[in-house]
Amino acid sequence: MASGESGKSGAAARDMAGDAASPWGDALAELAAPSGGLNIAVACVDRHVAAGGGQRVALRWLGRRQDRRDITFAELADLSGRAARVLGDLGLAPGDTVAVMLDRIPELYAAALGTWKAGGVYCPLFSAFGPGPLRARLEIGRARVLIVSDELYARKLAANRDGLSGLRHVLLVRTDDGPLPDGCLDFRALLAAAEPAAAADTRPDDPAFLHFTSGTTGNPKGALHPHRAVLSHLVTGRTVFGLSGADVFWCTADPGWVTSTAYGVIAPLACGATLLVDEADIDPRRWYAILHEEKVTAWYTTPTAIRTMMRYGAALARSYRDNSLRVAASVGEPLNGEAVSWGQKALGVPFLDTWWQTETGAIVIANAPGQGRRPGSMGRVLTGIEARVVQCADGAPVPADGADTVGELVLRAGWPSMFSGYLGDDDRPGGCFREGWYFTGDLVKRDGDGFFWFVGRADDMIKCGGLRIGPFEVEAMLMDHPAIAEVGVVGKPDLLLREVPVAFASLNPGFEAGDALRAELLSFARQELGASMAPREIHFIAELPKTTSGKILRRVLKAKAVGEADSFDSLPNLPPCPGRFDDE
Ligand code: WTA
Repeated sequence: MASGESGKSGAAARDMAGDAASPWGDALAELAAPSGGLNIAVACVDRHVAAGGGQRVALRWLGRRQDRRDITFAELADLSGRAARVLGDLGLAPGDTVAVMLDRIPELYAAALGTWKAGGVYCPLFSAFGPGPLRARLEIGRARVLIVSDELYARKLAANRDGLSGLRHVLLVRTDDGPLPDGCLDFRALLAAAEPAAAADTRPDDPAFLHFTSGTTGNPKGALHPHRAVLSHLVTGRTVFGLSGADVFWCTADPGWVTSTAYGVIAPLACGATLLVDEADIDPRRWYAILHEEKVTAWYTTPTAIRTMMRYGAALARSYRDNSLRVAASVGEPLNGEAVSWGQKALGVPFLDTWWQTETGAIVIANAPGQGRRPGSMGRVLTGIEARVVQCADGAPVPADGADTVGELVLRAGWPSMFSGYLGDDDRPGGCFREGWYFTGDLVKRDGDGFFWFVGRADDMIKCGGLRIGPFEVEAMLMDHPAIAEVGVVGKPDLLLREVPVAFASLNPGFEAGDALRAELLSFARQELGASMAPREIHFIAELPKTTSGKILRRVLKAKAVGEADSFDSLPNLPPCPGRFDDE
């Protein structure tokens, strides 16, 4: 799974984390067992219990219907130990994948921490995925166990589970009392009956979590991260958010997103803070009340959520201005200067932009205390990480530093939370690594003071409300409909979500372009892909624009989708690095 290059960078990560002078040396000394073992669940929970903090609140859960529950570190240690026992008793072997498709409910945290205690690989999936993307990820991730709500199971998997031969067990979190569906077990009942198991003695390089990402081409890719990643989470939790046991930290990310795993589970718990969890989806009125009443001190959210709150107006915000917020930050898309200062006006703290990716595993660029702040920029690179801006000339990257020079952001491989490789990608060694540098696929500028400014993507990945959508996955599914001859999917600018996927399709003979077929195709896509990934518009065209080698020219489709001048990003035409962007 790890490529040759990424294997080398794993070695670099070992060196850095072991180097007392690096920011991660101290973190390793703080979190590792004397034997050298490192387990994320122990770092997040058990060590706080061992240090006498068992009675402190680890997780404050707010249910959709005004119900609430406090879970102490001691209770979370017990709960995750039980989950580990359940998984172990089902035959989970070290390195096996446990897929989890749950909303933000206590069992989600039991499942994540229990998987780590059992030595397994935690693979959370977006609940909004339709049956197609869900099956693809269970297959590519080689999931042995799936923990899922009974409602999602019935809607998305029950009818076509048979082909998933690698999936041995489905554990349901139940909302109704009817008979258990065939071939499923009751997760809550198993937890209640289990004796807590001790955490497995995992090593820092053992795989711990798996998140799927999408680029322009090919199937979704599973980026795998080791237990060592917790070093980055501890360090960034402290440097970016200033977290300690005195904090109440709220991360609004969907559990399927890497932001939730890193900052909605690991970082705050590793820092000993109380993790505030709200089960409900975004609702600005509810959110203001939570910030105020739960005395949230540090908040991590997205530009889409901030824009949604801004739409509700400053008057509502001001009525909750009396809050305990010390820091508010965002990730996932560009955050404009207006949103930064709106935070100051509405909540009393500016929103700080942070930049990272699934592959980086944790924040690497940020506006943060000690880092300096510049509204509209992504911030500066964090201590211990080296970042450069490069362009590719004659196939070799050349530095492109300077305020007005746009180039690809590259990072020197070797920080602890860097992904160790894409699952099953052995045959494409070093796809995004060259000479020890990781190529992020993002186009940026760096100003004279070291602040990075986002310009756009170097590939055709679509960012919709923070969710990364690979056009190929959407196109491949649409091609399953008999009417479609060819299809290209691109991102169309959207004021709230930044981009939404739209499709351009040519039809097979015998099918008539028109509203009836459009409605049928849109509903087919929503059914199969789920609402978040499905195209919002379908345009019929006689023939798709192609390169001379016959590949769809998405740039031309994008120009059509954008219309005239209202594009968020008119991208400069940079020469791609060979082998990096394979659709050119
Ligand atoms: C984009 C998210 C602009 C970027 C944790 C990146 C951003 C992709 C920012 C990763 C930001 C993330 N400004 N763009 N502050 N943060 N992005 O893997 O294109 O879901 O490559 O991880 O989101 O998305 P992913």
